[in-house]
Amino acid sequence: MALDLWGMFRRRRRAGVSVDLESLDRSQLPRHIAVIMDGNGRWARARGMPRAAGHHAGMGTMRGIIRAADDLGIGALTLYAFSTENWKRPRQEIQYLWQLVGEFFRSDMDELVERNVRVWFLGDTTVLPAHTQAFVKEARRLTEDNTGMIVQFALNYGSRSEIVDATRTIARRVQAGELRPEDIDEKQFSDALATCGVPDPDLLIRTAGDVRISNFLLWQIAYAELYFTPLAWPDFTRDEFLRALVTYTQRERRFGAIKT
Ligand code: FPP
Repeated sequence: MALDLWGMFRRRRRAGVSVDLESLDRSQLPRHIAVIMDGNGRWARARGMPRAAGHHAGMGTMRGIIRAADDLGIGALTLYAFSTENWKRPRQEIQYLWQLVGEFFRSDMDELVERNVRVWFLGDTTVLPAHTQAFVKEARRLTEDNTGMIVQFALNYGSRSEIVDATRTIARRVQAGELRPEDIDEKQFSDALATCGVPDPDLLIRTAGDVRISNFLLWQIAYAELYFTPLAWPDFTRDEFLRALVTYTQRERRFGAIKT
């Protein structure tokens, strides 16, 4: 049930909506997009609403961006939904976020399956509430044989702890005599990370104005293009997503080389 996203963008363009579709070179789209979905709280506060309302609106945005990325043929999308630092928030807000994970998978699982999306998770999900773990398990199971876009939900994720875990895995292999220290290379290290098998992000988007990485995919974003927008996550529409993609395709990626 792929939506006619291109038709929609063309119609909007004819209607005077801002994004210049002609400047989007579809052959240059990122293979993997990582997103720091920030600003739900501020979005809600600005409207005199509780933070939970911001997260709920953020879930709607997340749904729209998953659909848009899939319609555009993006290979992988990684969404930072809950960091290891987010446990510092009030208990009620944390509980609401886990409730929302359940709400999302209850309402969107059929569509994700239909879209052939593979749902993966980053972070230690074993400490999440039992009901959330059940949704995580079910989403993995229902999509494990799919072959389409990979959507990785980072839940209780922290990049430094992922790197420490990878280091432990490699150290154990060295200890077991399976690997010599001189054989450890970037590929071995990447493969020991939770993102093993997914190409590194080409584009990292962060909404809501802060210009930082917040312990997200530190190893994997070594050469990613960074895109920051002042818009809060609930205001990050499909058009804004497309704008980020246009910007990305217009950048020159040199990977440390010089222009010939
Ligand atoms: C950051 O905004 C957002 C989060 C910590 C939660 C992101 C959650 C969603 C988008 C909801 C749906 C998620 C799933 C997986 C169903 P913030 O609260 O830090 O905003 P603020 O900086 O303005 O306070």
